[in-house]
Amino acid sequence: MAKVRALKSRYRCESCGHIELKWLGRCPACQAWSSLVEETESAPPPRASAKGVADGGGPVSIVDVQEISAADRMQSKIAELDRVLGGGLVAGSMVLLGGDPGVGKSTLLIQALAGLAAGGRVLYATGEESVAQTAMRARRVDAARAEVQLVAETDVEKILAHAKATQPAILAVDSIQTVYTPILDSIPGSLAQVRECASRLMQFAKTTGTPTIIVGHVTKDGALAGPKTLEHLVDVVLQLEGDGGPYRILRAHKNRFGSTQEIGVFEMRGGGMAEVANPSAHLLAERPIGAPGSIVVASADGARPLLVEIQALVAPASAGVGRRTSAGVDGNRVALLLAVLAQRAACGVLDRDIFVNVAGGIRLNEPAIDLGIACAIASSARGRAVDARTVVFGEVGLAGEIRAVPLCEQRLAEAARLGFTRALVPAQNAARLVTKSPLELVPVDRLSTALGEL
Ligand code: TYD
Ligand code: MG
Repeated sequence: MAKVRALKSRYRCESCGHIELKWLGRCPACQAWSSLVEETESAPPPRASAKGVADGGGPVSIVDVQEISAADRMQSKIAELDRVLGGGLVAGSMVLLGGDPGVGKSTLLIQALAGLAAGGRVLYATGEESVAQTAMRARRVDAARAEVQLVAETDVEKILAHAKATQPAILAVDSIQTVYTPILDSIPGSLAQVRECASRLMQFAKTTGTPTIIVGHVTKDGALAGPKTLEHLVDVVLQLEGDGGPYRILRAHKNRFGSTQEIGVFEMRGGGMAEVANPSAHLLAERPIGAPGSIVVASADGARPLLVEIQALVAPASAGVGRRTSAGVDGNRVALLLAVLAQRAACGVLDRDIFVNVAGGIRLNEPAIDLGIACAIASSARGRAVDARTVVFGEVGLAGEIRAVPLCEQRLAEAARLGFTRALVPAQNAARLVTKSPLELVPVDRLSTALGEL
């Protein structure tokens, strides 16, 4: 410990790289304000090699390097999580599990550790809760395993000392914002502490080959910037997202050992995070049949097709000017679609109150849902329900044209699997289809035509 403490701290300018031995409000080199960030003179962590472990050997031919096989990965037995990881945790890899506070990171982590504990003892260091609280939660979600060792600790040096002593198969630290290293004077959660602690943990992961999971609170816009700066350092960045409802989507924003196109879907229940293997069926379960303003879009999240219900309600404006409220979709996109509906499809509702909602409280971000939003609004405005076995998808352009979207076959297959019989699809997509569609296709190239086909 004394040796570690002897490391001197210094301050590096974020904008020009100038190094200063004491903190100054302004960088003397480039004059930028508040740009000096504390760091230590310790060596940077070793970089990842093929298996995520620094082997320290000399150069080898690329063809002689062995691939990571399924046997090299540790599974959590939570299929939705293992798939997003690329098949499981790789030795020596460092995973950042981010998400808004309260979204369920600690819950998912303890459940994952319970599964991973089948492969050996795991160490869970928590700086957020007491050992008793963590154990209580673990029991509640049926994740209390003898192989899971708990320690409530915030000093990263002590966490590493415990890890070195117990040699766990996996180390988990919850959360990176609560741990600190005494080498630095900055408070826990500061940029300097977050970076230094992560770098110390990284060094441990790479030199011992222990997969290390760190939890970080990251808001969607990255407002709590601390962990954002870790994204280049770690091997895998997982983000757990929820939009108010019970559903949680796990995404890999970065994965050095797998695809970032996979998503995992969970539902937060009383007994913890439950896997949702068939999210489309869940999301459509309570759909009102025959209600105007409700439409099913064949959306896709990464490479995974997802059928979701979009609801719109068009109501007389309470004040002179119409209000727009949207949940689960981008409000600017709704505003754009309202303008296109009015100008290109003779469906003017700009003077009314408009509410748009994605059922199930999930968030959709892709342009392929445009046609669904526009159709839902038109359906509500006309007071006419859309056929319950029709799905739609397509991007809407400013000229009122319907543009092609990726993953057409997968979207149609998912719709067919859930019993849909008819699909409004972009004409370009329909023309490019190589396999015969399992649904009756209605190719549309203009928004006005699409509304006529509903
Ligand atoms: P938590 O995992 O503590 O979130 P995070 O670590 O991301 O901050 O979960 C927080 C919420 O989840 C909490 O408000 C209660 C809820 N919850 C359940 O609904 N069911 C459960 O079984 C558990 C453990 C938590
Ligand atoms: Mg937590």
